[in-house]
Amino acid sequence: MEKGKMNVHVNRIMVVLLPAIVLLMIMLGWGLGLFTHIEEEPDINEASDRIVIGVSQLGSESGWRTANTESVQRAFTKQNGYFMIFSNARQKQENQIKAIRNFISQRVDYIVLAPVVESGWETVLQEAKEAGIPVIVMDRSVSVEDESLYVTLVGTDSVEEGKKAGRWLEEHLKERRMADEDINIVVLKGTEGASAQIGRTVGFSMIAGEHDNWHILEQEYADFTIYKGKEVMAYFLEKYDDIDVVVSQNDDMTFGAIEAIRESGRTVGVGGDITIISFDAVYEALEMVAEGTINVDIECNPDQGEYISEVIRMLENGQEVEKRYYVEEDVYTMENVTQEVLDARIY
Ligand code: AHR
Repeated sequence: MEKGKMNVHVNRIMVVLLPAIVLLMIMLGWGLGLFTHIEEEPDINEASDRIVIGVSQLGSESGWRTANTESVQRAFTKQNGYFMIFSNARQKQENQIKAIRNFISQRVDYIVLAPVVESGWETVLQEAKEAGIPVIVMDRSVSVEDESLYVTLVGTDSVEEGKKAGRWLEEHLKERRMADEDINIVVLKGTEGASAQIGRTVGFSMIAGEHDNWHILEQEYADFTIYKGKEVMAYFLEKYDDIDVVVSQNDDMTFGAIEAIRESGRTVGVGGDITIISFDAVYEALEMVAEGTINVDIECNPDQGEYISEVIRMLENGQEVEKRYYVEEDVYTMENVTQEVLDARIY
């Protein structure tokens, strides 16, 4: 072949092949996980005289969790004098343990831990204690015999949240003159082993135990996610045709459950077939409360970054801190979700 013709031929082949090669490389990179969740670790040498915080967040399963992460990011900024190393454990305790060990080896000043589950923290918290790094537990609690393994908890009282749900149902049934009727309840529980799940289950069961006519048909884990909420609710609907009340331990599961209920031809909320009790009270859910789709939403306040920052300020000043700080939380129904409440909502 003449040289000129050969060049034209090679060019044509390249025009056809090049996009295919690039596509192949992108797909390969994706397959190897190169383009997913690249979490850049900040260079600790840039911390200078700022307070270095290692944050181990348990995951990003819900709208609430995103709001909680944003709250931490708002609080631990450079302007506020912090240098934050953030790690997302993607629902795995082993990832959290690895992250904490990483923080210890980097000699951070404080560790903030939002624990995915309640138990199994002794060893790694002991390591942090021996390294002289104070641990602040955020949101959910840890269950350890030696409470000196962490300095304080800034979070929510999940047993109280569960009780609030039960008390609301009592009042609701009384108002409707249904207090003595048989009430069939199903419960969508959050992540197995998580204190938010355990506490809400215990709290609600305590109130339910006072009413012989409340029948908890079944309780099932649905991992605090929309997808699982829908799946488990569909299973409940298949099995029981006389469900009166759904207690769903977070808004994401509630969104999924409502989808499943509607697909089954039943109605929800105020004046509907099935009463919906939810937890969290994120913006989207509050809108649904206002329109009567969700009957009640027990607030779980994710805005904890500022509180933690305040605790750190006290510790830096050598002040004593309490073992537990619970953030303020409300109960929302159609009556109190005003436009003002919605406008002021940051999560
Ligand atoms: O620990 C708090 C719970 O975790 C919230 O209710 C839920 O939405 C989140 O995933």
